Order: sequence, then C-alpha cells, then structure tokens
Amino acid sequence: MIIRKMKCLVLVQLIACILFTGSTADDEWHYPSPDPTGVINEPEAWGGQCDSGRRQSPIALSRAAAVRGEFGPLIFNNYKLPIRQALLTNTGHSVQVNNNDTSVTIQGGGLPGRYVLDQLHFHWGSEHTIDGVRYALELHLVHHSTLYPTLNDAVAVKNGVAVIGVLFHVAAQPNMHIGTILETAIDIRSVPGQVAPLKAKLAPNSLLPVNRTAYFRYEGSLTTPACAESVIWTVFPESVALSLDQVDQFKVIHDQSGHELVNNYRSVQPLNARSLVYAREWERASDSASGSASTAFPVMGLLLVLLVISKV
Ligand SMILES: *[C@@H]1O[C@H](CO)[C@@H](O)[C@H](O)[C@H]1NC(C)=O
Ligand SMILES: *[C@@H]1O[C@H](CO)[C@@H](O)[C@H](O)[C@H]1NC(C)=O
Ligand SMILES: [Zn+2]
Repeated sequence: MIIRKMKCLVLVQLIACILFTGSTADDEWHYPSPDPTGVINEPEAWGGQCDSGRRQSPIALSRAAAVRGEFGPLIFNNYKLPIRQALLTNTGHSVQVNNNDTSVTIQGGGLPGRYVLDQLHFHWGSEHTIDGVRYALELHLVHHSTLYPTLNDAVAVKNGVAVIGVLFHVAAQPNMHIGTILETAIDIRSVPGQVAPLKAKLAPNSLLPVNRTAYFRYEGSLTTPACAESVIWTVFPESVALSLDQVDQFKVIHDQSGHELVNNYRSVQPLNARSLVYAREWERASDSASGSASTAFPVMGLLLVLLVISKV
C-alpha cells in the first residue's frame, strides 16, 4: 500500500514537473527592467514575429498622424453585467480576469463582425502613447471573432482578435473598480499561476471611459509573445482616473522569477505601411445640408412664385 502510494506520488510529481516545465518554456520571456533612473534601455528581443513583424503593437498614437474615420457606433453587448464567477489570475506578466460568458460581445464601430470577450488584463505603464505621453495604466479587453470557436483559433487569423485599450491617468481620487482588482491582487501577488475569486462584482462597462464616440483604430498584433498579427485595435483617447497609490499597488505584483513586476509594457513599434485611423462622430454632411434646407426652402418658394407671376 505504502509503496503504491509512493509510486503514485512520484507519478503525480512527474506529471506536475512536466506541466510546470512545459509552461515555463512557453513563458520564458520577460519585460526589460528599467535602470535606477526609471528609463528602459534594453530592447525586448522576444524573437520570431515580435522582432520580424511589420504590423506590431503597441504604436505611438496621435491625431496628427491619423486619418479621419467614420464608422457606425461601437456596441457593447452585456458589458454592464457583472462578470460571472470572475477569477483573477497572476499570469506572471500581468493580472487577468477571464470571462467565459459568450453573450458578452462587441460589434459595430467598423469591426468586421461580432467578437466575444475572453479576458481583461492590465499593463502598468501604458503600452500605447498619445502624442508621446505614456499613461499610468492600460486595460486590454481581449475578444475573439465569433467566426472561430476559441481565442486560440482566432489568433492565427487576420482580424480574428479585437482588443479594446483603455488608458488610465493619475488623479486625486481612487477608482473603485480598479480597487476591486487590487484588493484581490494582494492575495495572489507573489505567486504566478495563482488564482483568486474577485472580492466584489465587476462589470466590464465600469472600466470604460464615459465617452466612447471617439477612438483610434488600426490593425496590429498581440503585445506579448508570439506577437501574432491578428488584432484589430480600438483605443479610446478619453482616459479613466485612478490614484497614484493604486498605480503603485500594481508594481508590487511578482513575475515568474519572483521579482516585482515594476513595468509590464512593450515599447512602441513602427507604424510602417499601415493606416492609423481616428474615428469619431463627425458632423454629418447631410445634417448640415438639412440644416440649411429650412432656409433654402422659402427662397425657392419665392423663386417659384416669381416664375408663376412672370408666366401670367
Ligand atoms: C465558467 O467558468 C467558471 C469558473 O470560472 C465555471 O465554473 C463555469 O462552469 C464556466 N462556464 C462555462 C459555460 O464554461
Ligand atoms: C466625445 O468626445 C469627442 C472627441 O473628443 C467629442 O467630439 C464629443 O463631443 C464628445 N461627446 C460627448 C457627449 O461629450
Ligand atoms: Zn495586453
């Protein structure tokens, strides 16, 4: 009996060992650490498409570099519902909340179809910059196209994945919803792979900016290895507030080598031969035409009257 138990234990350990080394092999990449002055000098050098790709993310966003876009409204379905059985995971590269409710989707806004929310996670130090300015935090809401069964399948296809980026700026007041994430993150902060149920309800909608009528749109990649170029990006120029204390609470989350994950953003990548679109609800040409129509009608009426009179 004892021997059998021991054999069993050895087997369990062996399997655990295989699984563990398997996952570390995939995860053998890291963010370069900032030097003592806070500046990051090293390139990421993650290899593969991360280095050779020409449609990589993040990029430097600016209205000056963008072309005008006009899409239908971006629609968030069931974003106001709290995420069911929400779990927070320390991935060793970020903290992530998974969603497996396929009714939480986005569509419209020029997206080629409907996309299901898979997970949301954070980068401290924003990945995208706007007019050269880096924000304190960036939220990524990662979705896959309903044309594919899973995110894994969709990652291999152009426009298979849609990511919404939300930037956060530092303000005096803490952000209650970020507070929910951080209160749970404390319990899993030192052990990558550890999971904890969120300590309060969290609806994805509560993390979005109020005004979503304006956004940047471009085609790019995942910002972590293997940097697959399958992502249609939407980043709002309107940022959301959180406190400085909250920003610092992200920085004590530990990575897979047991160090504090001080920064987890990738450096901006070249735009190359891509268009950056700035979309908003532009004043419609037809609106201004109908606006002037009311003043044009009496004039036309008068002309008609004059025509009729001249005929008589
Ligand atoms: C969603 O995930 C939870 C755990 O987070 C699990 O209990 C539940 O069965 C899952 N639902 C579906 C539809 O996969
Ligand atoms: C939303 O933001 C856009 C771009 O900054 C602006 O043009 C628009 O007026 C804003 N809408 C509202 C309702 O504030
Ligand atoms: Zn991300």
